[in-house]
Amino acid sequence: MRAAYAIAADPDDPRSALRVGERPEPTPPDGWVTIEVRAASLNQHDLWSLRGVGLPADRLPMILGCDAAGVDPDGNEVVIYPVVADEADPRGLSLLSERHPGTLAERVAVPPESLVAKPAGLSFVDAACLPTAWLTAFHMLKTRGRVDEADAVLVQGAGGGVATAAVALALAMGKRVYATSRDPGKRERVAELGATAVEPGARLPERVDVVIESVGAPTFEHSMKCANPGARIVVCGATGGHLATVDLRRLFAMRLDVLGSTMGTRDDLEELLGLLVSTGVRPVVDSTYGFSAVGDAFARLESGDIFGKVVVDLLH
Ligand SMILES: NC(=O)c1ccc[n+]([C@@H]2O[C@H](COP(=O)([O-])OP(=O)(O)OC[C@H]3O[C@@H](n4cnc5c(N)ncnc54)[C@H](OP(=O)(O)O)[C@@H]3O)[C@@H](O)[C@H]2O)c1
Repeated sequence: MRAAYAIAADPDDPRSALRVGERPEPTPPDGWVTIEVRAASLNQHDLWSLRGVGLPADRLPMILGCDAAGVDPDGNEVVIYPVVADEADPRGLSLLSERHPGTLAERVAVPPESLVAKPAGLSFVDAACLPTAWLTAFHMLKTRGRVDEADAVLVQGAGGGVATAAVALALAMGKRVYATSRDPGKRERVAELGATAVEPGARLPERVDVVIESVGAPTFEHSMKCANPGARIVVCGATGGHLATVDLRRLFAMRLDVLGSTMGTRDDLEELLGLLVSTGVRPVVDSTYGFSAVGDAFARLESGDIFGKVVVDLLH
């Protein structure tokens, strides 16, 4: 079958470690199900894997990809929840493409509990955007950020998959949303979604109750300064650098919660699908590529010049 896979680790030029070509069919463990992939989306995680982060040499070659939507052997349309429990240690979790072959392939084997029904009104391309970036944003807002108690939300770095998801979801939940981007074009796009777009570091007209942080060092001080007393600053990534400076006086005086967040639960994914159906909100798709252009999709993601998700459509 056709697949996109890592053959090596290259910290400086991750795409040089990528190959697109034939791989053996999945050999599922007992009880697992093989899914015909219809669409898969890329994440920074795939580039980190090509750099060797979380993917040691003894697991290579490894099919990449955490996210997909497809069809199960009974013909049901499904979305794949990408977090897999470790058989040896049930507390140990991995994402598809870390220990088990990933979703950037014609077929992928997953445990049956990973399957979530895809609503008929959601396309395969839209559904493939949800399992990592959108799920992460949903969990950050709902569970870690307690967005129900919030009036205003700040999203830093409004181009990436997590950030565009957080903007769209917080708006759908009826919140006032501020979003930063260094790029005037992305600020225009985020304003079209309905958020107030500002330059990084700009003073906001009000303080916010939840901050969605995936940029890290370049924006963290601003995140702290924009927070209301008792606000939640929820961190899922550090694309711009992981060593941030924290003013501890502000942390305790404002009683701020700085919270780490990773992915979400399978129930969260089901709830997220329901929210999309009930609100009509759809993932922000930056670009869609056919399988023969997977290399271009990775180049697009690595460029950093994206607004939303980069998707591979296996039907084209
Ligand atoms: N913990 C989890 O479960 C989880 C899940 C998904 C993703 N993540 C992590 O979350 C992060 C976001 O991922 P993503 O794919 O959504 O987006 P991304 O492609 O990593 O980009 C996010 C945004 O970061 C901003 N940015 C990048 N470098 C910057 C710099 N030097 N200074 C200021 N801003 C910078 C850009 O904003 P502008 O260009 O608009 O300014 C960009 O739009 C990644 O680190 C990813 O690994 C974690």
